[in-house]
Amino acid sequence: MSRIPAVEPIPPGIVSLEDHAAHAHARLDDNAWSYFSGGAADEITMRANRSAWDGISLSTRVLRNLVGGHTRVELLGRTLAHPILLAPVAFQRMAHPDGENATAFAAAMQGAGMVLSTQATILLEDAARIVLNEPGRGPLWFQLYLQHERGFTRELVRRAEEAGYEALVVTVDAPSSGARDKERRAGFRLPPGIAAVNLAGMPPAQPIELHAHQSRMFDALLTTAPTWDDIEWLKGITRLPVILKGIMHEEDARLAIESGASGIIVSNHGGRTLDTMPATAAVLPRIRAAVGEALPVLVDGGIRRGTDVLKAVALGADAVLIGRPYLFGLVNAGAMGVSHVIRLLRDELEIAMALCGCATLADVDAKVLFK
Ligand code: FNR
Ligand code: LAC
Repeated sequence: MSRIPAVEPIPPGIVSLEDHAAHAHARLDDNAWSYFSGGAADEITMRANRSAWDGISLSTRVLRNLVGGHTRVELLGRTLAHPILLAPVAFQRMAHPDGENATAFAAAMQGAGMVLSTQATILLEDAARIVLNEPGRGPLWFQLYLQHERGFTRELVRRAEEAGYEALVVTVDAPSSGARDKERRAGFRLPPGIAAVNLAGMPPAQPIELHAHQSRMFDALLTTAPTWDDIEWLKGITRLPVILKGIMHEEDARLAIESGASGIIVSNHGGRTLDTMPATAAVLPRIRAAVGEALPVLVDGGIRRGTDVLKAVALGADAVLIGRPYLFGLVNAGAMGVSHVIRLLRDELEIAMALCGCATLADVDAKVLFK
């Protein structure tokens, strides 16, 4: 059941997304912190995501008349108040008792897009009701992990359609999760009562008996992993646009167009899958060049400042997603915390636009990048 979350004050002294992270670290136990904050292996990619944005300098322009400026963008036939969406993050009731309810409220109130994870801890129908009730809301998308049971997947898609979701975000970069050293050191376990409730009732995967020379990866796990044929299958069973999340190669971007995808999210899963993948900021311009204007291109990974959002747009992104930052806002102050994170980022974006002499995001291009 969804309920209106309690109003919680923002703890004093928090003025940035990284402040939210530090504060959340102090509040979470090792178990939850290892899951929410961790990346794969040595976390090289996770750090690279950040340092890539940091390594880009902006060029300011002065004395331009910017009256009437705004942060609006067009995306999949809708006008968004600003280009910030909340990335799918699993198991949010481990961060706060209100979990995804709080996130949905905050997203809707701040006009941010909401992408609900397949592994959400509230029913997808409840999250949709919260968001769809708010006239100033952003887009409402459902992140889909294609399940080993295609019948169950079809039913999940039908539920998302019926509940009012406007697109399916198919995450394609995690047929196996990464080597999550931080989680393994902490002995990470889902606490009792926290579960992927939208997957309840799914028949378990058939156990596969392996011979000594066979691999658990290639001869078991990957036998039901999705392929491009499944994207075609999905296109055939849904009327919703399909957005592929986790595209990091130009050739895959071209295949995405061929597969009928309606959008691409350049993402390395926040550095949680294959460590030593490049930063998303480094890959984004190549993906944009590969697809031209054929598709909207979004990006996530390490976006912590309004200046990062501006740089992403300058490198070719239509919009950005944030993951850990809003999760940490959720830890610190529930719906208010998520709302605060979105607002901080949006305010910083406006400051960055103003100081770079850009009244609208359509004015933002490679010229704002100092080379
Ligand atoms: C994720 N991410 C993710 N992605 C997805 O498609 N489905 C999911 O259920 C999850 N779950 C998830 C849990 C946690 C704890 C994290 C940190 C991330 C990846 C997420 O959508 C996004 O790609 C990254 O979080 C973006 O990077 P930043 O903003 O966290 O640096
Ligand atoms: C993760 C999965 C749920 O990153 O996508 O933990």
